[in-house]
Amino acid sequence: MEVELPVVQTYVDGLDKILGGGIPKGATVLVAGTPGTMKTSLILYVMNENAKRNGSKGLYVSLEQDADSLRTGAARMGMADLQESRVYMLDMGQLRRGLFRAEGSKDWVTILLEIIKEAVSSSGYDMLALDSLEALYALAELKTPRREMFHLVAALKELGLTTFLIAETPFGASRLTQWGEDFLVDGILHLRQVEVGETETQLRLRCIKMRYMNHDRTTLALNHDGSKFFVSNVISRKK
Ligand SMILES: Nc1ncnc2c1ncn2[C@@H]1O[C@H](COP(=O)(O)OP(=O)(O)O)[C@@H](O)[C@H]1O
Ligand SMILES: [Mg+2]
Repeated sequence: MEVELPVVQTYVDGLDKILGGGIPKGATVLVAGTPGTMKTSLILYVMNENAKRNGSKGLYVSLEQDADSLRTGAARMGMADLQESRVYMLDMGQLRRGLFRAEGSKDWVTILLEIIKEAVSSSGYDMLALDSLEALYALAELKTPRREMFHLVAALKELGLTTFLIAETPFGASRLTQWGEDFLVDGILHLRQVEVGETETQLRLRCIKMRYMNHDRTTLALNHDGSKFFVSNVISRKK
C-alpha cells in the first residue's frame, strides 16, 4: 500500500516535479553551495511563497547577514512583499542579546537551540532555516565539532519543522560540509556555479538526496527572472 506523504512545495517552477512532488513535510534539507549561488535567496523565496500560498510560517535564522540586509536582498529579487509576519528573521543582533542574557557557561550551539525552541513553541513555525553552518562554526569555537553538530542537527530534527540548513561550501572543496552533517540530513540540494563558454556563468541545481521521494538526479539550471525562480534543462538552454 502506498502511503500518502505530505510534502512542502518549493514553488520554484519545475523543481517540485523533479523532487517527486516536493520536500517531505518535517524533513531536514541541506542546501549546499559555494558563495553567491543564491542559497539565501532561494530559501527565502521558498518560505515566502509558502507564506503567501498556504499561510505557513517561516523562521529564518541568519548568522551571516542582518535582517535589513536580508530584506534588501530579497526585495532586489522580486520579494518586496516578503511577508514580515509570516517569514520572521532572527539575526545576529537579536541572537547576541540572547547570548548576553544567558549565563557565561553556555555555548553558542546551546543558546541558538534554546532561542529557536522558544520561538518555535511561542509562535508555531512550520519552516526553519539556519544560515549558515559555517558561520556557526566560526562563532561557536566547537570543542568537539562533529559531536556538537550532530547534536544540533538531531535537536533541530526533533522540532519536526521542515528545516533548511545552509552550508557555504568553500571553492574547490571536496566535501559539502565540514563535519559530516550531510550524513544526518534527509535531503541535499547542491548549488554550483559553472562557466559556460568564455564569459557566461550559470547556476546549477541538483537534488542529491531526498528521503522517501522518487526524485530525479538530473543537474538543472537554476534561473531567476527578476521576480521568480525557475529551473530548466541544461541541454535545452544551451541551444
Ligand atoms: N535578479 C537577480 N538575478 C540573478 N542573480 C541575482 C539577482 N539578484 C542578485 N543576484 C545574485 O545573487 C547572488 C547572491 O545571492 P545569495 O542568495 O546571497 O547567495 P548565497 O547565499 O548563496 O551566497 C549575488 O551574486 C547576486 O549578484
Ligand atoms: Mg547566503
